[in-house]
Amino acid sequence: MAINRDWQKSMQIKVDYNNMMAEFIGDEQGFTDKEISAAKKIADEAYKNVAANRGSGMMGWTELPYNQDEIVKDIIDTAKGIRKKFDNFVVLGIGGSALGPIAVFNALCHLRHNELPKKVRKAPKFYVEDNIDPERMDALFDILDLDKTMFNVITKSGATSETMSQYLIIIDKLKKKFGDKAGEHMIATTSAQKGNLIKIAKAEGFKTFYIPDGVGGRFSELSPVGLLSAAVLGIDIKAMLKGAAFMDKLCKAKDVKKNPALISALLQYLAMNKGKNISVMMPYADSLKYIADWYCQLWGESLGKAVDKDGNAVYAGQTPVKALGVTDQHSQIQLYREGPFDKVITIIAVENFRKETLISKGCEDFPDVSFLCGHTLSELINSERKATEYALTTAKRLNYTITLPEVNAFTIGELLYYFELETAYTGAMLNIDTFNQPGVEGGKNATYALFGRKGYEATKAEMENAPKKKSDYII
Ligand code: PA5
Repeated sequence: MAINRDWQKSMQIKVDYNNMMAEFIGDEQGFTDKEISAAKKIADEAYKNVAANRGSGMMGWTELPYNQDEIVKDIIDTAKGIRKKFDNFVVLGIGGSALGPIAVFNALCHLRHNELPKKVRKAPKFYVEDNIDPERMDALFDILDLDKTMFNVITKSGATSETMSQYLIIIDKLKKKFGDKAGEHMIATTSAQKGNLIKIAKAEGFKTFYIPDGVGGRFSELSPVGLLSAAVLGIDIKAMLKGAAFMDKLCKAKDVKKNPALISALLQYLAMNKGKNISVMMPYADSLKYIADWYCQLWGESLGKAVDKDGNAVYAGQTPVKALGVTDQHSQIQLYREGPFDKVITIIAVENFRKETLISKGCEDFPDVSFLCGHTLSELINSERKATEYALTTAKRLNYTITLPEVNAFTIGELLYYFELETAYTGAMLNIDTFNQPGVEGGKNATYALFGRKGYEATKAEMENAPKKKSDYII
């Protein structure tokens, strides 16, 4: 793909926040220019905070578009080998080690990739195993030919019970089948220094990719976590990184009204202060359905925090909700339009779809049906999106629209980086630690205790002393 300056400009994603403004949804719910100007200091501080910390601490992800030349080369070479030799590529991971690969696969591969004949697919089938449901694991073995399968175990901590139990099950099967060649079917993506997986990988001689220390799970899609599977699937990972760098450049603007991630962050922050504690992510494209899943983790896990950086109890955050246009117009829009005034609805639009479908002529005797004839499905989906924006706006519901000129590797890189920056800015405005996840660790530790892991005896004792459930309350 020739990524010259003009083309990049034509692929710029746009944030339209008209429907967040009082002019359009009224003074009670909307914001005025005056309010945005009054909050300028908050935006400026957040901008400075992110600029000062980028590339350091847990903000290593900001540099991923720039510092991976060698790694990208290795990933592309490795992916070539995998594409030649294997029919299935299976990721074992959870949370930040799974949602990015799922989102990018669905956005950039054929929507029926795994069902296509091999000749058309031109890449292995792709599976991400991000749960430990025994039926699902069993079902996977019913469809996989192990001879033709490469696994990629991804865990930054190298300790996550779900991922490591999947690893144990699979490596056992591989060893039973391939003996000392089992390692040829397993790639590890993990921290270079910390955790068990790196030790195991070295001992077993697995090909290994590293997740940099300053890149947390939910900010890791543009690291080897996401790049390896994307390259295996034939996605142009260099274009993805270029898209991210392009968004980074746009967000260098200090003026909040010129910086897309900063204005979105400020509006979400102001909305939270007005009690809008739900953030709905509603793409109008099936290819972007799982971007909403990925966003939900990013937004929820980063901003949902009990205390701020000064130790004050804040119970911050907005509950992220995923919805799909137009499907959820027929399930959730009723609530969004008439229920509580507690939401900000983000709509993702696609200007040009990669494929077009014409609505066929027919039913001429039924004008209430035949009015559809001769139009295309992209006209219909985009008209329905505009209709939803209108319906929400007339009902005074905060909503804004992010438009992708088209879905491609470059615009997906832009979009991912935009949401990551928006999250970082919002966290800075809330004065919280955006990059930790003590709530997730709590659940992880309780699992270790229940399974008798060494070092978790105190948690086990604490859990055993917790009030016992009453049978009266179980019917
Ligand atoms: O964002 C995060 O840090 C978490 O959601 C992790 O990605 C998730 O818990 C999996 O952790 P790990 O990659 O260590 O297995």
